[in-house]
Amino acid sequence: MTAKKQGGITRRDFTRASAIGSFAILASQTGQAETNSGTIKIGLIGCGGRGTGAAVNCLEGNKNVKLVAMADLFEDRLKDSRTRIGKHSNPQVTSQFDVKDDMCFVGWDAYKQLLATDVDMIIHACTPYIRPVHIEAAVEAGKHIFTEKPVAVDPVGIRKFIAASEKAKEKGLNIVTGTQRRHEKPYLEEIKKIQDGSIGDIVAARAYWCGTLPFKKDRDEKWSDLEYQIRNWYAHCWVCGDNIVEQHVHNLDVICWVLGGPPVNVFASGGRAWKDNADTRYGDLWDQFSCDYEFANGVHVTSMCRHWSGDCAQGVFEHVMGTKGTSSCRDNNVKDYVDPYVQEHMDLLAAIRGEAPYINEGVQCAHSTMTAIMGRMAAYTGKKLTWEEALNADLSIVPEKLDFSLSYPVGPIPVPGSAKA
Ligand SMILES: NC(=O)c1ccc[n+]([C@@H]2O[C@H](COP(=O)([O-])OP(=O)(O)OC[C@H]3O[C@@H](n4cnc5c(N)ncnc54)[C@H](O)[C@@H]3O)[C@@H](O)[C@H]2O)c1
Repeated sequence: MTAKKQGGITRRDFTRASAIGSFAILASQTGQAETNSGTIKIGLIGCGGRGTGAAVNCLEGNKNVKLVAMADLFEDRLKDSRTRIGKHSNPQVTSQFDVKDDMCFVGWDAYKQLLATDVDMIIHACTPYIRPVHIEAAVEAGKHIFTEKPVAVDPVGIRKFIAASEKAKEKGLNIVTGTQRRHEKPYLEEIKKIQDGSIGDIVAARAYWCGTLPFKKDRDEKWSDLEYQIRNWYAHCWVCGDNIVEQHVHNLDVICWVLGGPPVNVFASGGRAWKDNADTRYGDLWDQFSCDYEFANGVHVTSMCRHWSGDCAQGVFEHVMGTKGTSSCRDNNVKDYVDPYVQEHMDLLAAIRGEAPYINEGVQCAHSTMTAIMGRMAAYTGKKLTWEEALNADLSIVPEKLDFSLSYPVGPIPVPGSAKA
C-alpha cells in the first residue's frame, strides 16, 4: 500500500466515524502527551494468523511505531509469527520491527510479562475466550489497545470487558476493536447517508454470513485436550463462541451501527445438520443459526449464519429496508479506498498521538458481540430472550481452571430446547 493511498481517508473522515461511537470525547487526556511525537512501542499478544496480519497492518500504515514485544501461549506460534513479520516484503514493516529475544514471552503468563514492559500499546489477537482477562490487565497496566473481535464468548466475559473499557475511558486509553467495517470508507459513507435519512425510516434489515465449511485441525498425539481445543479453536464453543459469535458478529455489528444500538430481544433457532456429524474435529460447533432480532421501534432483523458446502447458496452481507428505499450499507462507488485492516490502525495511532479525537470502541464492540451471544443463547435453549436477561445472565462457558494436565471432555453438541444455555 502506498503512502498516497493511505492518505485517501482524511482525518476529518475519521472524526466523523468516531463521532458515531458512544465514547467520542476530545483528546487532551492522560497518557497521550508523552507519545505525541516519539516512537510508539507496540506489543503483540496472540501471534497467530490475525495477530501477525494486524501487526503488519499497523506497521505498514504508520510511521514512528515499533513492534518491540511478542507473547503467545505456544512457542511455535510466536516463532513463526516473528519470522514472518521479520521477513516481510515491505521495508516499512521490517524497519519498524525490533523484537529482541528477551522481549518474547511464552505460556499462560506471557501476557503479564509483556504488559510489564514499557510498550505503549498492545495488539490483542488471541482467540476470544481469554480476551476479557487480558484486556482488563492491559487497561490496568495503562496500555492503549487494538483488540480483535469478538471480545468475549459469554455474558460474564462481556461484563468484564465492558468494565475494562469504561476504566480505559477514565484513564484516557484508546481502544479500537477489530470490527474493521467501522473504518471502511464504503460503509462509513453509506451509513452516514442512511442516518441522514436517505432511505427514510428503517423498517427491517437482514444480516447474513452463509459460507462454506470452516477450518478444522487434526489432533497431534502430543497435545493435551486443552492444547488441542485451543489450537483447533473454531470447533469449540468455549474458545470461540460458536460461529454466530466468532464470524457473524461482523454483520451484526453493522446492523447495530445502522440502528443505533443493540436489540431488545431475540427469537432464534439452529443446529448441526452436517452429513459427517460425527467428525470430532468439528468439536461442539453448530453449522447454522437463524435469528429474528427485534430492535427499538419494533424493527425486526433477520440474521442467518451457516457453514454449508456443496451446492448451497452463499452470501455475506447486510441489507436495510426503509420507507423510501433500501441499502446494502456500502457505497461501492467511493473513491480512494483504503484497506480497513490498515485504516483501523492509522485511526488508533492518530488518536493515541492526539491528532484525532479520543477513540474507545470497547462498549460498542461488546454490545455487538453480546448481540451474537444472545442469539446463540436463544438458539441453544429455544427460549426468546430480552437484552437484559441475556446481558445479565450468570453464564460463563470458559473453564475456570486452564491447565494442560487436566482433561476437558468435548460437548455434548447442544440440542435446541434442551440445552441449558
Ligand atoms: N477482524 C477480522 O476480520 C478477523 C480476521 C481473522 C481473525 N480475527 C480474529 O482474530 C482472533 C484470532 O484469530 P486467528 O485466526 O489469528 O487465530 P490463531 O489461532 O491463528 O491465533 C490465535 C493465537 O492466540 C494464541 N493464544 C491463545 N490463547 C492464548 C493465551 N491464553 N495467551 C497467549 N496467546 C494465546 C494462540 O496460540 C494463537 O497463536 C479471533 O478472535 C478472530 O475472530 C479477526
